Amino acid sequence: MKKLKPLIVGNWKTNPGSLKDAKNIFSGIKKAASVYKGLDIVVCPPYPFVSILAQSVGTGKKNISVGSQDVSQYETGLSRTGEVSADMIASVGARYAIVGHSERRAMGENAETLKVKLQQVLKTNMSVILCVGEKERDTEGGYFEVVKAQLKEVLSGVNRSDFHKIIIAYEPVWAIGRKDNVALTGYDLHQMVVYIRKYLKESWGDTIASMMKILYGGSVNSSNTEDIVINGEVDGLLVGRSSWTTEAFRDVFASVNSCMTTHSIKDLKKTLKKAQAQKKNKR
Ligand code: PGA
Repeated sequence: MKKLKPLIVGNWKTNPGSLKDAKNIFSGIKKAASVYKGLDIVVCPPYPFVSILAQSVGTGKKNISVGSQDVSQYETGLSRTGEVSADMIASVGARYAIVGHSERRAMGENAETLKVKLQQVLKTNMSVILCVGEKERDTEGGYFEVVKAQLKEVLSGVNRSDFHKIIIAYEPVWAIGRKDNVALTGYDLHQMVVYIRKYLKESWGDTIASMMKILYGGSVNSSNTEDIVINGEVDGLLVGRSSWTTEAFRDVFASVNSCMTTHSIKDLKKTLKKAQAQKKNKR
């Protein structure tokens, strides 16, 4: 994991079924967040719970915040029954909005719609979590091109000054919601992360490419986190089912946290060894 503070996003989808349960789960997650201060945690509940959960976070610098799972492509004030604008979501305290989740793409959202949605979020003070990912893996590596095309069609035309508000979530569709909980391996993930960064660098330069966070999503749980985080070298995770209970989400935090600690100890030992060798050589 490259960036200092990993970003762990929970996507609650259509869970839970009541405000009472949402408050209970979120209160447990808040407690866990106060233990794992080295992580930035975001919970994306269904719309009706966004406001109350965001308000319960309170003001001041916190490592937990609330996001929405989607935003409308329409702006405030239009006659579009049932739509919820990005302004409204931002006004109740959400800090992030997911755009382009594969489950929404499957409901008919196309690149044009997603481009507009992304712009709607960028007009607010929220950050966008833009989801991309191939439906299936072929042996020729065509999935790299699929992801590149998805990024290109939504990101083209975005102002350079807005890129700091965009986070990319790579979620291979075939790895989402798997009953056997098999995620992409860290090795394969790393190849995609490198590919995405290379594409960002070629299109928008080094500064933007190295600043942008890339998350992984798709059947993440506490037992596959280590491989994903360490070998995949992602900047965080987009977690579905393992964020629906306090316990499962807390286990993911614990696992990311322990990877970070083990890794920084290893790095420290390497640096010490190098310094000792240099000292010896000088004598
Ligand atoms: P999952 O969902 O972790 O349950 O696979 C991930 C997602 O849909 O974002």
